[in-house]
Amino acid sequence: MREAPRGATRTGPSPVNFTLRVESDRVIVSRDDGASVILNDSLSQREAAELLDRFWSSRTATRSADTAGALAVCAEASMMRPSETGRGISWTGRPLGGDDRLALGSLVSSKSRPLRELLANRRSRRHLGPIGLEAIATILWRTSRVEVLGPVVDGVQVTQRPVPSAGGRHPHELVVASASIEQLGDSAWAFDPFTCELVRQEYLPEQVTAATSAVMEAGQLASTPGAVLFLRTDFSRTLSRYPAGAALVWRDSGVLLGALHLCAEDLGLSSCLVATSGVLQPRGESLWVDTGALALGSPPTS
Ligand SMILES: Cc1cc2nc3c(=O)[nH]c(=O)nc-3n(C[C@H](O)[C@H](O)[C@H](O)COP(=O)(O)O)c2cc1C
Repeated sequence: MREAPRGATRTGPSPVNFTLRVESDRVIVSRDDGASVILNDSLSQREAAELLDRFWSSRTATRSADTAGALAVCAEASMMRPSETGRGISWTGRPLGGDDRLALGSLVSSKSRPLRELLANRRSRRHLGPIGLEAIATILWRTSRVEVLGPVVDGVQVTQRPVPSAGGRHPHELVVASASIEQLGDSAWAFDPFTCELVRQEYLPEQVTAATSAVMEAGQLASTPGAVLFLRTDFSRTLSRYPAGAALVWRDSGVLLGALHLCAEDLGLSSCLVATSGVLQPRGESLWVDTGALALGSPPTS
């Protein structure tokens, strides 16, 4: 595979622009190019409390302060470029572990409609009735199966799939929860892009219900959708090559969600992108978080 195009638009870090993350027991200072240091114990509880007090008692933020968070993200995005980080393996690209597996290959439909028709008819729709496993199998296979294995670059197995990803790092895993698909029960299942199987995940049923409810609320869905596809994201796959690449991960999320939405439309399903994040329990690793979801289902029958 060819080297990913270089994304640098600035040549070096500014000595003055940085982001400060104040946590309960430490302060993390990050330059726009992603380089970060942890200043342990540098802020006492008292100093942290004082900082918060000053924050709350400050006058309404000016326009530039209002956008400070956005400016930090934009500055980081403009510094984004690949670099040799020498990080160890963070993703080997092996099939997902797990004994409880459902093969999807035989369920994939070959029916499809012209792209111009999908784009002309696509809308976000929020009445999402029951669906079958065939629909989920078709959407996952069409968007997310691994087609080509590339090299291992900065600790990550590069892959090529139907939907593109910055640097071929594909930081997202797709997790399905469905109240209407009998075979899935009340569990959440992750798509294994190598074997095209669903693998049961160790979430508690109440965690799955809570995540689905969060999507329903954010998407203003009147009833439980036929299914929800969560993007469970391993930021480290992208950051191990692009230290300031968090914005790339979010762009990857949008690209993937858009493709999932169009695939649902292609199957005659209704669907709505939902910008939830952090509603699935993290998997232990600190850089795992869900970065969006697609709620989908059958259209109303009337
Ligand atoms: C990135 C993105 C995030 C979205 N997040 C939400 C959301 O959290 N809740 C929601 O109800 N709709 C969400 N939507 C759907 C938009 O509200 C919808 O696309 C917009 O109102 C235009 O309607 P249309 O898709 O029918 O053309 C999102 C759409 C996009 C592209």
